[in-house]
Amino acid sequence: MTSFVQQNKVAVTVSALLGIGTIAGIIYYMKTNSSNNSDDSSNSESSKKKRRNKKKKGKSNNGASSTENGSIVEEDNKNSVYPINEATKLPNITPEILSNLSESEKNDWAIALKEKGNEYFKAKQYDTAIVYYSNALDCKKDHIFYGNRSACYYALKDYENAVKDTTSALEIKPDYSKCLLRRAHVYEEMGRYEDAAFDLTALSIYGGLNDKSSDSVMARVLSEHADKLNQEVYSHLPKVLPSSSSISSFLGAFVKEDLDLDLNNYEKDSGSYYLISALNEIYKDTDEGYENADNLLNQSIKRFEDNNNSSNDQTDKKIIAIAYEYMGIFSFLKTFDNAKEYVEKALEISPRPRMHVVLALIAADKGDYVLADQEFTKAIKMNPEDPNIYYHYGQVYYLIGDLTKAQSNFEKAKALNPNNVYAHIQLACITYRHNEIESCLTMFNNAKTLFPLSPEIPNYLGEILFDKGDIENASKQFDIATKLQEAIPGNNIGALPLINKSVIYQNTSDFQSCQNILEKAVKIDSKSEVAWSSLGQVYLLMQNPNGAIECFEKACRLCRSAEDRKQTIALLESAKIHLRVRQDKVLSKKMEEVIAQYSAAQMAA
Ligand SMILES: *[C@@H]1O[C@H](CO)[C@@H](O)[C@H](O)[C@H]1NC(C)=O
Ligand SMILES: *[C@@H]1O[C@H](CO)[C@@H](O)[C@H](O)[C@H]1NC(C)=O
Ligand SMILES: *[C@@H]1O[C@H](CO)[C@@H](O)[C@H](O)[C@H]1NC(C)=O
Ligand SMILES: *[C@@H]1O[C@H](CO)[C@@H](O)[C@H](O)[C@H]1NC(C)=O
Ligand SMILES: *[C@@H]1O[C@H](CO)[C@@H](O)[C@H](O)[C@H]1NC(C)=O
Ligand SMILES: *[C@@H]1O[C@H](CO)[C@@H](O)[C@H](O)[C@H]1NC(C)=O
Ligand SMILES: *[C@@H]1O[C@H](CO)[C@@H](O)[C@H](O)[C@H]1NC(C)=O
Ligand SMILES: *[C@@H]1O[C@H](CO)[C@@H](O)[C@H](O)[C@H]1NC(C)=O
Ligand SMILES: *[C@@H]1O[C@H](CO)[C@@H](O)[C@H](O)[C@H]1NC(C)=O
Repeated sequence: MTSFVQQNKVAVTVSALLGIGTIAGIIYYMKTNSSNNSDDSSNSESSKKKRRNKKKKGKSNNGASSTENGSIVEEDNKNSVYPINEATKLPNITPEILSNLSESEKNDWAIALKEKGNEYFKAKQYDTAIVYYSNALDCKKDHIFYGNRSACYYALKDYENAVKDTTSALEIKPDYSKCLLRRAHVYEEMGRYEDAAFDLTALSIYGGLNDKSSDSVMARVLSEHADKLNQEVYSHLPKVLPSSSSISSFLGAFVKEDLDLDLNNYEKDSGSYYLISALNEIYKDTDEGYENADNLLNQSIKRFEDNNNSSNDQTDKKIIAIAYEYMGIFSFLKTFDNAKEYVEKALEISPRPRMHVVLALIAADKGDYVLADQEFTKAIKMNPEDPNIYYHYGQVYYLIGDLTKAQSNFEKAKALNPNNVYAHIQLACITYRHNEIESCLTMFNNAKTLFPLSPEIPNYLGEILFDKGDIENASKQFDIATKLQEAIPGNNIGALPLINKSVIYQNTSDFQSCQNILEKAVKIDSKSEVAWSSLGQVYLLMQNPNGAIECFEKACRLCRSAEDRKQTIALLESAKIHLRVRQDKVLSKKMEEVIAQYSAAQMAA
């Protein structure tokens, strides 16, 4: 993985804030679930099967030990309190008959009918059981009878009727936990995951948020929901470039191309002309610039391909290859699978070490560190002094936890490309990881002297100070980083210092400032999924679920992969549920009680 990928994996910087006291409740609940998510999701299918098998086993045991179906006593008009149809041997209760009964008679009949229904249920004769429960319901509208009948429908996989009956039961008794759980299971089977999640939340709220027994169901439902959304919605969206700050940190570790960037020196409308135009756009380091570059690269490749990709001139070949390399990089940034093919084509035409580095990063992004290592090795073999290799190589070692090798690679990167500010920063971070805090701070100070205008340095220094618990000084560094970022034309780290500063506001429970700064962050870097997701979480805390939903939807669109998106989808769901809870009078009242209790408990603790 690269710093680029890593940054984008940190989907939820503000998640810490969800655990904080004031409105704990539902959001807190959702947060605990979404963090379990990934574990459960990987084998959700198999766990689902297991669950079903288990259930089946339990039931058949039950049936065998208690009532064999043969032993159910068929009824006739002598042994039953209610009239029986002699032909069908089933209850024969008409509205006319009922209209003559007293309330207490109706009650007695209802209970007797339900008991008989239970016998048939245990014997797995669900159709007959349904007849009895229906008759019981004719005598008396009782949530238990609806609940019992819904169990029959569920067993028969008649999910429509199972929903109807559980819903009727819940209309009578909203906190009927058995039915909430059952309806959640039914919704899950129907693929109505949002409704399932809502019922599970209601279940949890009625349980005072203490009952964790349905947490694993919730995790599974959210994971299934995310899979469905990814498949049905997000996989069809056009693939777009990530935010300029992400691209910047990816390309920032490469040296500037040693090419004549003056367009006047190239033939208009030629492949080279478009490549040079693209590079000029890239060096602007803005969202717009990168988007223009993306189109220009396409034009450039088109021209070269129309000319049969051929040239006898070595200089031209070099340029064609570079165009293919960048085409590969941009395809990779847009998560296209064919990225690798472009880079391989570039290697065929006119190889250089950087191309192997790009292939290594594509491999690392897929988690194939062995292949990544091979590609880095090829790059080094081609030219051990190439300044473009070692920073990314170090980054991969850093991510797999080999700090020693990471360090030596960053040292080399720094020596070969003194302009690479990230090498300086990473070396300081490794020193911090080794607990040498004083020398880490010295390294940051030295880097500041070398790169006085770099917003990256104060931003990462701020992170270190924050980690160290020096919130006050961290805050100052984030402010400096923000100012420096504003002062330069490029987008370097974009909204990162603002997002980091927002974490400090959360830490001091200053949610209004947190909201203000994140609103600024999404303006500066409208493609930052971290910014949108963080703002969404603050909106949730500020009791603005509609605003939160909008933010999470934006963040979902910006996620680079289905896996990254899962957590954001869980947050989006939590916002939607939050809204539904508020609109549900009974549930929102209960929620308020639970929060009051929770807060009181927090105070006491
Ligand atoms: C017992 O149940 C089976 C299926 O569950 C059914 O085929 C059979 O007719 C039942 N026997 C009686 C006596 O109801
Ligand atoms: C209801 O009661 C009335 C008078 O007690 C009786 O005439 C009538 O037949 C009864 N109807 C039924 C359907 O049992
Ligand atoms: C019917 O509902 C009651 C109350 O929830 C429950 O105790 C009983 O087990 C249910 N019976 C069946 C067959 O589901
Ligand atoms: C250039 O863009 C067009 C339209 O988006 C696309 O069809 C074509 O495949 C692209 N060309 C290359 C070389 O990717
Ligand atoms: C490209 O190759 C085709 C045959 O493969 C040839 O007809 C055409 O003239 C070539 N175009 C150029 C610009 O060389
Ligand atoms: C140039 O290369 C591309 C990519 O390999 C290929 O699709 C295209 O057919 C080639 N163009 C010609 C005219 O051979
Ligand atoms: C901030 O840094 C200065 C010097 O770098 C130090 O003296 C001060 O104690 C730090 N502040 C906090 C709150 O740790
Ligand atoms: C600052 O932002 C980066 C990128 O989003 C993140 O990885 C890091 O954890 C943040 N640091 C703090 C202190 O919030
Ligand atoms: C604020 O940060 C400090 C130090 O990292 C931490 O101990 C504390 O729990 C945080 N407080 C809140 C409310 O997040």
